[in-house]
Amino acid sequence: MRGCCSRFTFSLITGALLVGCAGLIPPPTDADALRASARWPGTTVGALTEARRLYIDHCSGCHNLYTPASHPADKWPKLVANMAVRAKVDNRQLDRIALYLTVMAETSPPP
Ligand code: HEC
Repeated sequence: MRGCCSRFTFSLITGALLVGCAGLIPPPTDADALRASARWPGTTVGALTEARRLYIDHCSGCHNLYTPASHPADKWPKLVANMAVRAKVDNRQLDRIALYLTVMAETSPPP
């Protein structure tokens, strides 16, 4: 059945599974920052919180926000990079958004 669903149809289906508000975009905790700092030394709750804000501000314009758990942690950097042009964010902001999603994907329950 390959080719039966257009990319557009697929987007509509996945779109229906998205969260409708920022309420399901979890705020980072001390435990998240601690875990993240093992891989990215110096990561603080403040930095992750700012990154969450960037994500909400820059990524909710065209589609509902995807929960961190909606994609595997190791896929987020590429997914975020794919949206760079659309979201009109600079590289520093992109890195932060990717960091937030990667870190939170590891703790959040499945969507
Ligand atoms: C200008 C509109 C626009 C903005 C802003 C935008 N997106 Fe998207 N996004 C889209 C469209 C259109 C699609 C579906 C088509 C596609 O995948 O290319 C999509 C799809 C996605 C997907 C699903 C991709 C997949 O293969 O499952 C993710 C994840 C995503 N966006 C994340 C983000 C993130 C993170 C940001 C902020 C950095 C962002 N988007 C900002 C338009 C946008």
